[in-house]
Amino acid sequence: MRPALITATVVIAALGLAACGFGEEGVSVAENDPNHGGAALFATHCSGCHTLSAAGTQGSGSRGLRTQGPNLDQRIETYDDALFAIQNGGFSGAIMPANIVVGDEADEVARFVAEYAGDEAEESPRPGAQPAP
Ligand code: HEC
Repeated sequence: MRPALITATVVIAALGLAACGFGEEGVSVAENDPNHGGAALFATHCSGCHTLSAAGTQGSGSRGLRTQGPNLDQRIETYDDALFAIQNGGFSGAIMPANIVVGDEADEVARFVAEYAGDEAEESPRPGAQPAP
């Protein structure tokens, strides 16, 4: 490769890295999957506080920080629970902001979370929660 080309490649790679964390790069849900939109919304709106592999987010990295939300890979969530959390700001309403996404977007994110959360769940689900299929 010529130096100019190498420089361009490095710049593009750096831009790609910089976009991580609030972009869709980590989304592993296929674009033709009905949950892709929800995954992309999750990656842009919820990534700061929640880990969820299907959206490529690592927001639960240090739970020592009070604002960090639960690792959703380890939580089984129903659609109703996810929508409730979005509309009310988690289950306690203390830290997570309510209505980060609303309307159809809230619906899409809740569907995505219900489908993909809990992939690594080991503990028993909370009473009333439906086990993953
Ligand atoms: C500012 C940080 C923050 C953001 C942004 C955030 N959350 Fe949360 N979330 C939390 C915290 C902290 C909790 C745990 C405390 C609680 O439930 O009130 C939580 C709890 C939850 C829960 C309940 C998990 C469980 O099993 O207890 C769900 C579901 C959830 N969030 C989904 C989302 C979705 C979807 C988004 C994006 C629309 C989002 N969160 C954005 C901080 C955040």
